[in-house]
Amino acid sequence: MNTKPFYVTTPIYYVNDVPHVGHAYTTLAADTLSRWHKLLGHESYFLTGTDEHGLKIEQAARNTGVSPQEHADRYSQPFRELCGIIDAENNDFIRTTEARHQKVVQEMWQRMEANGDIYLGEYAGWYSVSDEAYFTEDELVNGKAPSGHPVEWVVEKSYFFRLSKYTDALLAYFEAHPDFVLPHTRANEIKRFVEQGLKDISISRTSFSWGIPVPNDDQHVTYVWVDALTNYISALGGPNGDLYDKFWPAAHHIIGKDILRFHAVFWPCFLMSAGLPLPKQIIAHGWWTVEGEKMSKSKGNAIDPLKAVAAVGADAFRYFLLREIPFGSDGDFSQSALITRINSELANDYGNLLNRTLGMLKKYRKSVLPQEVSPKDTSWSELEEQLLNTVSEARQELIKQMSNYRFHDALRAIWTAVSAGNKYVDSAAPWTLAKAGDEKAKELDKVLYNLIELLRIIGVWTLPFLPSKAKELLQAIKVDESTWSFAQTMSDAWGTVLKGGQELSSGLALFPRIEGPLELTRKSQVVTETQAKTLAKKEGNISKKEDQKGQKQASEDTKKTIEFEDFTKLDVKVAVVVDAEAHPNADRLLKLSVDVGEAELRTVCAGIASVYKPAELIGKRVALLANLKPRKIRGILSQGMILAAGEGETMRLVEVPEGPKAGEGIR
Ligand code: MSP
Repeated sequence: MNTKPFYVTTPIYYVNDVPHVGHAYTTLAADTLSRWHKLLGHESYFLTGTDEHGLKIEQAARNTGVSPQEHADRYSQPFRELCGIIDAENNDFIRTTEARHQKVVQEMWQRMEANGDIYLGEYAGWYSVSDEAYFTEDELVNGKAPSGHPVEWVVEKSYFFRLSKYTDALLAYFEAHPDFVLPHTRANEIKRFVEQGLKDISISRTSFSWGIPVPNDDQHVTYVWVDALTNYISALGGPNGDLYDKFWPAAHHIIGKDILRFHAVFWPCFLMSAGLPLPKQIIAHGWWTVEGEKMSKSKGNAIDPLKAVAAVGADAFRYFLLREIPFGSDGDFSQSALITRINSELANDYGNLLNRTLGMLKKYRKSVLPQEVSPKDTSWSELEEQLLNTVSEARQELIKQMSNYRFHDALRAIWTAVSAGNKYVDSAAPWTLAKAGDEKAKELDKVLYNLIELLRIIGVWTLPFLPSKAKELLQAIKVDESTWSFAQTMSDAWGTVLKGGQELSSGLALFPRIEGPLELTRKSQVVTETQAKTLAKKEGNISKKEDQKGQKQASEDTKKTIEFEDFTKLDVKVAVVVDAEAHPNADRLLKLSVDVGEAELRTVCAGIASVYKPAELIGKRVALLANLKPRKIRGILSQGMILAAGEGETMRLVEVPEGPKAGEGIR
């Protein structure tokens, strides 16, 4: 195995907002890249986190009447949770208020100072708190920062960094590494900016204290961008860390176009000054608008990743974001585009191939996979050759597009294989072969095997993009996890991975059709219910009396332990959902029909209608409390209770992995 290290980062997000689709997009792109490299057999390390210092945060905390640290704790958590919500598999989450980070920032400072690049001076100029950036008179647009944010005149003693010293070195670096900054159009803008000659920058502040103290001068705190950019190495343990040894400089910084100058100019110069190698690549993506408008707090139009995932599922949300716009370009998030893509590409094209294949395998072969077929077999025909060629071309295209960060074209390439599969079904017409009986039995076997083989390949390819649905598919068609690698999808692997004779899943509904309108925007700034409670307590917003009451209740609760015999009275078993529909008399409820083994079907009412659509429940393997006394719920007799975790929008059914059959006990 090639264990080439790959390191991918997101910007660390400011803790002055809760996550929206823009943040989710960057994190998702980084996650997809990380998963892609793992699929290639590389060792990938994926970092994200929060940027917690600076005047902006200090002011935001003051406005809400809490300490900056409390404010940071409150707003960092949703960014950490964002990863789980969109199914991002980060290796670490760094916060700039952590001691491990502060230590490395101070070390960076000392290294730059030791190199003669820091001097004390006086700063007088325009500062935009929102951008945490200084501007010269010439850079202002109508008296404001280029971003439109207000600026204030600041005069204070400040340490400066000799950025000017690095103009030539940086230009030479750009010249020698033409792909250092992507896309090239943006790299050219940066180059033109540097060519005008870099000016020294102020890197410390004395007028506020929420920051990392400057070594040996605690009157000053470090400028937030020196602090923030250093996260990329502090999370690796700094220049002497083991992770640093392994993953630096194999770094790929995924950022939004808004912060390219900091990453492509300041960061390389800081690193050169500190005597450290530069990251491998900086990739800037474009900006999302929502229904044609800029996202803003006042408009309340920010797409909330939590709501989007509750409405369409994490994988469909991921698919849309990566497929809708070329990475690097701006794009618009509209409900109609979201629904159209999900329904036509996921539910129809992909869903169709999947349903037809598993449906026919069930109908004609009782879901048992026929014997392997390979391109070397004499039965291999023109039709198969066409299919294989399309798959090999799609594979080449996928590698090419992924190495250029063109996620939308990578997905497009995968979908050419999906279409080729649907075309193969139409041309091979398995239903006609089935009608011909024994005479065409071998041919039918071949077609069914090839279709499952194609699904296996699509399943492996989609692992970085649709991680949980891809996994579900691969498990349903019994693909051994040790073979989930890109190498196993080469055309000469065709027919060598899946062994015939196994019984596969008889059906799988991966992507239900979506119907609008969907509720996707966030109307309030509330963090999460549980966090709000903990915070309220921390902030003293829960009265002492209420708190004491809560504690008393908790200690009484712990006294109420049960005997093991009591536990054995519970009959919790595996149940498979075979049908689901809206409850006729209650919006909140769904009426499910579940298979509990031994040919018994039960009706169960569950309060999950706000989280699940009926179609996506079919085939789910859930936990059923089977000996709960049957009870009429809004006119329908419910025979048991399905177990779920959590509440509200984040509630999810407890699912049982493949293995135990319907009716088997859960202990
Ligand atoms: N804290 C700095 C980054 C420091 S990195 C060393 C910062 N934080 S931020 O919270 O403002 O996040 C900015 C990033 O969020 C953007 O670079 C981009 O990745 C993402 N986005 C925020 N809004 C976005 C859109 N509307 N569209 C796409 N991405 C957006 O800047």
